[in-house]
Amino acid sequence: MRNCKILVFAPKAVAALFLCLSFLVVVSLQDAGAQNNDVKKWPSLSLKNPAKPRPVQRVILKGPLNGDPVRGKKIAYTRSKGNCLACHVLEPDGVQPGNVGPNLSFQGLMNRPDQYLYQRIWDARFENPETIMPPFGTNEILTEQEIRDVVAYLQTLKKFYQPPPPKKGASN
Ligand code: HEC
Repeated sequence: MRNCKILVFAPKAVAALFLCLSFLVVVSLQDAGAQNNDVKKWPSLSLKNPAKPRPVQRVILKGPLNGDPVRGKKIAYTRSKGNCLACHVLEPDGVQPGNVGPNLSFQGLMNRPDQYLYQRIWDARFENPETIMPPFGTNEILTEQEIRDVVAYLQTLKKFYQPPPPKKGASN
């Protein structure tokens, strides 16, 4: 009788074992695939010219700031230049400012040294490697003088301004 029972259950056990093993094989094959980063079989532009971010640059502001806040404001408001408005509130005449970054309308009250602001605009990754703020100096978006101008502009911002929320029912 006992032998008989074994005969009945044995094929089920074998089948279960087989299922388990095949599952393990599939999982390990998938793992092997995930670790295989060799994508040469599929040529693409990014493969031929992998764009790596430029390394973080530390800079020292030399001499007096010599920045022009009027030019700095223009740079901060111009899309193809600083485009700071896209992420920061600056002044009431800055239309549709973004709020991804902190409100800078009172940055001049924060007693930030020129050197700090200069480095922050040159390459904010020195402080926060994960920042989404573009490294304006490192990536040559702004020149040294343009960054000096923007720093001079930020130092003049001393009046807190919070844009009103969009009107109810307004369609953008
Ligand atoms: C794509 C969005 C983006 C753009 C464009 C941008 N920033 Fe920022 N900025 C941020 C974010 C986000 C932070 C918050 C801290 C961080 O993530 O580095 C920040 C932080 C700062 C700070 C520090 C503020 C504080 O009080 O701690 C300053 C100063 C600053 N930005 C200036 C500028 C200036 C000047 C420009 C234009 C030349 C600019 N940012 C453009 C996203 C941006």
